[in-house]
Amino acid sequence: MTEKQLVHKTVLVDEVLEYLDPKPGHVYLDATFGSGGHTRAILEREPKCSVISLDWDQVALDTYGPALKEEFGDRLTLIWGNFALLYKLVRENKIKRIDGVLADFGTSQIQIINRPGFSVHRDTPLDMRMSPAHQKITAAELLNKGTEEKLREIFWQFGQERNARQIAAAIVQERVIKPFRTTKQLADLIERVSPNKNRRIHPATQVFQALRIYVNKELDNISAFLAAATSALDEQGRLVCISFHSLEDRLVKQFFKEKEREGILNILTPHMISASEEELRENPSSRSACLRAAEKREEI
Ligand SMILES: C[S@@+](CC[C@H](N)C(=O)[O-])C[C@H]1O[C@@H](n2cnc3c(N)ncnc32)[C@H](O)[C@@H]1O
Repeated sequence: MTEKQLVHKTVLVDEVLEYLDPKPGHVYLDATFGSGGHTRAILEREPKCSVISLDWDQVALDTYGPALKEEFGDRLTLIWGNFALLYKLVRENKIKRIDGVLADFGTSQIQIINRPGFSVHRDTPLDMRMSPAHQKITAAELLNKGTEEKLREIFWQFGQERNARQIAAAIVQERVIKPFRTTKQLADLIERVSPNKNRRIHPATQVFQALRIYVNKELDNISAFLAAATSALDEQGRLVCISFHSLEDRLVKQFFKEKEREGILNILTPHMISASEEELRENPSSRSACLRAAEKREEI
């Protein structure tokens, strides 16, 4: 399927609009453009605001950007870049004000279906990079060169994989005979060595998640982004974050708490916000999404 035929189902749209609360004349930054679902929702909700949308996936920007640019003209600016480098991007693009920032972390459903290495259900090269220009090491290189200890640590830390030890040992044995090249080779090996075969999800799901997070430095990027976004926000500007697993959500939750203690942010969501029953019925993959929002305090 071509990228254009695929659609990422945008999550928590009403909740994003409620917490971002777009206002006339204000400028919003969508740090994770994807296929532009949230960007569109913001531009449609407030016809006198503008949006600067960022993604490090050039294919996503090229596929979904032009139609939105045509529709919204100068109200939309598209920027290719890593949100971890937001300080630099703001400076280079001469962005003068930001009244609200949205980040919908992780991968888009399109990347999972269409890009090499992401899906445990399709046999593709073990790449897993969301932006080859930003990441040099592929999942295959990591599996073929990483030490057993390193692999075990990655599977445990980023995938909470209980069989991390057995899987890492099996990978190190297997790669001597046949270096890892494809998703199927890895998925089959994990299926063979995982003691519990009755799981609801594929036994390699957590290892795939762990490799993806490591290859793309996802957690380091989120930490850098949260700090940069908070400092780039104007007073009373809002920061809205959507996470898809507990490792991401923990970073957001702890960051908000720390900045509230320092008197920089006010937390707007004492508890995480998740998808409504209606959204869950229409889009079951929204079940893992959780939203947190905070507002930058006025300086006294
Ligand atoms: C869940 S999707 C966003 C979907 C989007 N909100 C929509 O409605 O279509 C996440 C997007 O964030 C991008 N992304 C992930 N990490 C990034 C980073 N460090 N810098 C820039 N973009 C990133 C991915 O390439 C992907 O397109």
